[in-house]
Formats: sequence, C-alpha cells, structure tokens
Amino acid sequence: MRMYDIIQKKRDGKELTTEEINFFINGYTEGRIPDYQASALLMAIYLKKMNKRETVDLTSAVVNSGETVDLSLIKGIKVDKHSTGGVGDKTTLALGPMVAACGLPFAKMSGRGLGHTGGTLDKLEAIKGLRTELSKEEFISIVNRVKLCICSQTANITPADKKLYALRDVTATVDNISLIASSVMSKKIASGSNSIVLDVKVGSGAFMKDLESAFVLAKEMVDIGNSVGRDTVAIISDMDEPLGYAIGNSLEVIEAIETLKGNGPEDFVELCLTLGARLLLLGKKASSIEEGRKMLVEVINNGEAYNKLLEFVEAQGGDTDYIKNTELLPKASHIIELVSHNDGYIKSIDAEEVGKCALALGAGRETKESDIDLAAGIILNKKVDDRVEKGDVVAYLHCNDKSKAENVAIMLRNAIKIGDKNPIHKKLIYGIVD
Ligand code: URA
Repeated sequence: MRMYDIIQKKRDGKELTTEEINFFINGYTEGRIPDYQASALLMAIYLKKMNKRETVDLTSAVVNSGETVDLSLIKGIKVDKHSTGGVGDKTTLALGPMVAACGLPFAKMSGRGLGHTGGTLDKLEAIKGLRTELSKEEFISIVNRVKLCICSQTANITPADKKLYALRDVTATVDNISLIASSVMSKKIASGSNSIVLDVKVGSGAFMKDLESAFVLAKEMVDIGNSVGRDTVAIISDMDEPLGYAIGNSLEVIEAIETLKGNGPEDFVELCLTLGARLLLLGKKASSIEEGRKMLVEVINNGEAYNKLLEFVEAQGGDTDYIKNTELLPKASHIIELVSHNDGYIKSIDAEEVGKCALALGAGRETKESDIDLAAGIILNKKVDDRVEKGDVVAYLHCNDKSKAENVAIMLRNAIKIGDKNPIHKKLIYGIVD
C-alpha cells in the first residue's frame, strides 16, 4: 500500500477502505508517513469528506493508535464532557469542580488551542506548577482521591490525534465533521469514561457555523459513542458571541474562579448548569435535570465547588496561591480600552473575529511551535443586547507587546456591531441530541 495512492483516491472523492485508513493512521503515528503527505490527505478529506463508515473506522484507528485507560478501578459512573471548541470557552475549569463537588468522578483528557479557539491545557498552564502530563496511574489515582483530574493526551493515549490535531491547527483542516467527530470521540473512548456529554458549539466562533451542520456533527458523535457502549448526549450551544466576558488563558482562569465563587457571567453559568445537570443525571447522582441544577447551585453557594478547584490544583502539583490570589497569574503590561463611537445596542460580537484578535495579541499559536502569551487576551465589557452610550468602554485589550494592539483594536471594533435593538433576544441552548 502507498500513501500516494490513498491521497489520490480521496482527492478523487472515493471511499477509503478500513485497511487504508489504518495504514495512514499507523504510518503517521509511527513517523513513517511525513507531515506533508498527512496534510495532503487531511485536505483531501476536508474537501471530499468521509462517510459514516469511514468516520467510524478513523475513530477506531485513532483509539487503537495508543493505549486505552481502564477506569474500572474507580468506583461509580465516570463522566466526561467535551466541547467542540469556542471562544472564551473555559467551561471545563468551572464545570469540573462543580460536578466533582457533587460527588461525581470527572475524568477529563483535554487539548490545546485549535485555530481561533482556546484549549483547556493552555489555560491551566497559567497556574504555576500545575502538571497535565500525567501517567495513567496518576490519572486514576487523582480521580479516585479528588474525583477530578484534567490531563493532556499522554504520549500513549490517542497519539495519532495528538499529531493530527497539531497538524490540522496549522493547515486549515479543522472544521470538517469527520475530522472533528473522530478527534473528539477517539479521546473520549480511549480515556474510559462511561458517560459523555458533548457541547457542540454553533455560530461565528464555532467550527460549525450553522445549526444544520452542528446537529449533523452532534448526531455523528452521539452515534459513535453509543455504538461503543458509552452513554452519550450532545447539547448544541451558541458560539455566535464569545462565552462570558474573558478571552485569553490567564483571563479565562480568573473568570472560571469567579464563577466558582458565585460571580460568574450569566451565559457561562447557564451553560455550566445545563451541561452539569446532564452529567449528574447520566452519572445517577441526580434523578432529574431540576435536581441536578439545584445541586450545582448549592455547591457554588456553599463554597464546595471552589474548594474542589483548590484540591484539584494541589493534586496536580499547582500552586493554590495562584487561585486564592489571582493577581499572581500572568498579567499583561498594557491594558488598552476600546471605546464606543456611538450610542445604541450591541447587535453582534463576531466570536471568530474576537478569537482571532486574542490570537493576534499572543493568546494562541500561529505555528505548531509558537509559544503563547498566557497574559494576552480581551475582556469584553458589553455583551450582545446590552445598551451602550458613546464613550463607553466596550472591551479591554490585554497585551505585552503594545505594537500589536493598534491593528487588533481596529479588528475588534469591526467585530463588535452597534445599532438598533435586536428584534429577537439571543439564545444560548439550541437543542439536545441523545
Ligand atoms: N476538539 C477536539 O478535540 N478535536 C477537534 O477536532 C475539535 C475540537
């Protein structure tokens, strides 16, 4: 078998066999197939698509590229959640401690930023000392002890996805249903949880821009999960405007901490309650969605969710002083105000553009090797439907390199539209697929 022929076959829109998909994944993982051939095949898949059978085979090949975690040593139902990626999406940082504080083991394998979207591992790096490269044994032991562990894909779990994810990030091959579904579901299957809640984002800042494709992606992933015996549910949630107010690694950690202290932004809190209640239901800790929501509100109000965050940070080697005193987290040397030029209402905030602005300030990667600036990012001061007066600050740009700010301020101004009141109030949750 030759990689050239596989690329040509997909380029011509033909269906790949199971053997061909396995040949590609094994060869790429083991370093026999170079990045340039893998990139060419990814682009061919992107343009010509894969059918359901090919997507399932791709998912299995990625799962089989490494080891799988057996979580049976952990008592009870283990739950996991995964977002398809968004701007300002710091959900895992708040949701993990919330559900774990309700007694549900939350075992999560997270990723780095992808395209214009952020990644949980990059955010966690803002906390000094916190380790996410854990062995399988450490992962299991921390979930057992703390009920919450967030780790990176260790070298031996879905190594193919680790390589493909980084390559897709820099070859404009992210937003394809089969590539996203296999990437997300391979990690979820390999990391061993019994129940999975997927947060499928839709809108300008998501990889799925319209509701129809978001529902197709959700169905594809739910079917893959259920076909291998994992209870899988997908929530379709809005990513037309960024989630919450903070975009950028350190800034998002602060917003998640504030949320656990009861001071979270309305949309972000609502999303955490929606996803969390589903997790508690699947994990049999709550007998209804309403009961699950109540439990989550309770652990925020009584401080148990915040204490769980401290416990988790300590268990993974992080310095809890960075949580107790967020002034210690990486801070930008310049904070620049973006002021409104008119009166009116915020009509829209293009999440993808805001993500790109944060990236341009240093919050994301331009190439596989780029370092990110943990302090860089944007704090919105207004959300869609808010009233603004001329002269009001609509956003703050946080940066260490002031020379980048001028262009970004222009981009950001274009991303935030001010005008008449929107006739229809915005929506956060569009539906559920189970
Ligand atoms: N999240 C993933 O893990 N993979 C993708 O491809 C997109 C979002």
